[in-house]
Amino acid sequence: MFRQILFLVLVVNVLAEDYKVVRLDVGSVRGEKYWAGDFYEFYGVPYATAPKGRDKFKAPLPVQPWEGIMDANIRHNVCEQVYLTDDDDDEIILDGVEDCLTMNLFVPTIANENNLVPVLVYIHSGAFSGGSGNMGKFNYLARHDVLVISFNYRLGFKGFACLGTEEIPGNAALKDQLAALRFINKYISKFGGDPNDVTLAGFSVGASMAELLALSKTTKGLIHKLILESGSALSPFAINRDPVNSATNLAISVGFKNTGKIEDLTEFLLNATAMDLAAGSKNFFLKNSTFGLSPCIENVVKNSEAILTESPLITFHKSDYEKIPVLTGFANMEGISRTIRFADWSEMMNDHFAEFLPGDLAFDSDKSRDDFINDVKKYYFKNEEITHDSVEGYIDYFSDSMFKYAIMKSAKMHALKSTRPVYLYEFSYVGKLSFKHGFMARIKGASHRDQTSYLIDFYDFTDSLADMDTRDRMTAMWTDFVKFENPTAYESLLIDVQWPKYTNKEQKYLQISDNLRVKKDLFENQYSFWDNVYEKFYWHPMPVDKKSMVVPEKTNVNEEKQKTVNEDKKPDVNEPPKKGTRDDKENNESETAKKSANEDIKKTETVDKKKSVNEPNVKSGTDDKKKPVPEEKKLNEKETSQKNPSSSKETTGK
Ligand SMILES: *[C@@H]1O[C@H](CO)[C@@H](O)[C@H](O)[C@H]1NC(C)=O
Ligand SMILES: *[C@@H]1O[C@H](CO)[C@@H](O)[C@H](O)[C@H]1NC(C)=O
Ligand SMILES: *[C@@H]1O[C@H](CO)[C@@H](O)[C@H](O)[C@H]1NC(C)=O
Repeated sequence: MFRQILFLVLVVNVLAEDYKVVRLDVGSVRGEKYWAGDFYEFYGVPYATAPKGRDKFKAPLPVQPWEGIMDANIRHNVCEQVYLTDDDDDEIILDGVEDCLTMNLFVPTIANENNLVPVLVYIHSGAFSGGSGNMGKFNYLARHDVLVISFNYRLGFKGFACLGTEEIPGNAALKDQLAALRFINKYISKFGGDPNDVTLAGFSVGASMAELLALSKTTKGLIHKLILESGSALSPFAINRDPVNSATNLAISVGFKNTGKIEDLTEFLLNATAMDLAAGSKNFFLKNSTFGLSPCIENVVKNSEAILTESPLITFHKSDYEKIPVLTGFANMEGISRTIRFADWSEMMNDHFAEFLPGDLAFDSDKSRDDFINDVKKYYFKNEEITHDSVEGYIDYFSDSMFKYAIMKSAKMHALKSTRPVYLYEFSYVGKLSFKHGFMARIKGASHRDQTSYLIDFYDFTDSLADMDTRDRMTAMWTDFVKFENPTAYESLLIDVQWPKYTNKEQKYLQISDNLRVKKDLFENQYSFWDNVYEKFYWHPMPVDKKSMVVPEKTNVNEEKQKTVNEDKKPDVNEPPKKGTRDDKENNESETAKKSANEDIKKTETVDKKKSVNEPNVKSGTDDKKKPVPEEKKLNEKETSQKNPSSSKETTGK
């Protein structure tokens, strides 16, 4: 009898400690203590409600209240997406559910309403059409006594279709992310998190979106620090330049008969099955370093809260955003991630290099474009034929054009415009958790997003001590940044350097390799090579224009033609309006606006003038009399004065 009572007392005690119940005004949730750590795990906590039916592309709705205590142990909730069983898209499997707007929380046991700890929120990757908040576990970060959160957002068409119409205004996924941040702001103190100390982080496209959100007025007060891993708001893939025609082409691939009418496309997408919407969204490997469906500049429509209303580079130039501390950087060989297509693409690059230029460049003529292609071939391929031996040049080309340039540009803009600290890293460690690729024997370098594998557990295993040291270094520095705005606040055996702030003058950064080293002038030569062309030919994304939909030519409505309707639309911004477009006049105007937007904005005399050419659809008048030009010029003069952009190939900082 006595033994039984003792047993019961023990069980009750263990249960009390093993669970944490959090009461919110929408309902209560119960998390469970992690078996090997001092934190509770909550999986599948709803933070918003996915809208349905004709509203399914719109902003999410508030959480539906629930009764009783919800067991937060739903680990497999993901938003609708497809898996391909092989490269040839033979078999497509639909996974995920419509009601997918949930988050996972990793809550340190020391955290409670009287002891609030800093919060770290991660936006996952997946090329805007895959991935989920469950794609990794956050135990190694949570062990450092910060409350870590990951969450799902709508993917593919549902998250990123952007037609600028009332039904499909665009950026539904960013609106989900905003809803998650608002939920955190409102409720995180109940879990023991500090709503006034929230770090937003992201990897790959998650980093792009994290920075887009940080630049948006809608997140004011919700984000206090920013961590970017291998992505930026300025990345070529961050914003779609032609969202209506991307959506048209992808819809055609799942049976849409293009009529050139935006209403028909809207109806098609509203009626399409979840399978078609998810299958039509797959777009991982486009040659121009974009992913098709992606965030867009919204064309403020009625009853919709716009998140992005102008080109992020313009927001930077105007300095019109909330300044917060930033930690950013990349892997030294980001482009290894593109070697999956090396065999096909390397051959095509010889004769069709134009297709491989990043999609956010728009040249004023074929000649400027071809001149630049010649420079690229000299810089990355020594002017030699691109063959199976050119893999180093191929990797460097994609590392720089798809990833590094934009990330450096963003780091420089933050350092220029803000007095808050900026920390820059390059990650070059290679271990068992790194991306496995076909060139391991020849090429030693870190691939796209590899740093993240040492921060988050992507269900991978390592028994290497060096890997564990790297993980310990990374998670300690990242969480020190989260806690103290300083990634090397405390010295330890593993962290024996002080990571200095990045400034445009000193240009110091941290090299994260087998050890930690402070270095200078990361990516300097390559930066000026690319900045030279971006200064002239950057294609500022414009607010979506539903009238830009291209109609198939009447005489030739076969599918093949339709599919390529958009292919040659971009490169020449000066091209005359296409014959047979719905509204020649409109098209002409938007082409003209696009061209003006591409004229180097730093050289236009006033911001006011710039504004009028760059934001023709934005009506809210922010009065901006500042001239960001001179300091900007200085930065660029400094950058370009020191080196010759067309000098022979530089190795990308290995
Ligand atoms: C979509 O469905 C609505 C009603 O459910 C119908 O009126 C409309 O014709 C459909 N549109 C298409 C393109 O199938
Ligand atoms: C990138 O390539 C895709 C596929 O060819 C095309 O549809 C899209 O318009 C291109 N994007 C840009 C910005 O040029
Ligand atoms: C296009 O724009 C130019 C200048 O803005 C104008 O002169 C011309 O008439 C326009 N063409 C059409 C087809 O609207």
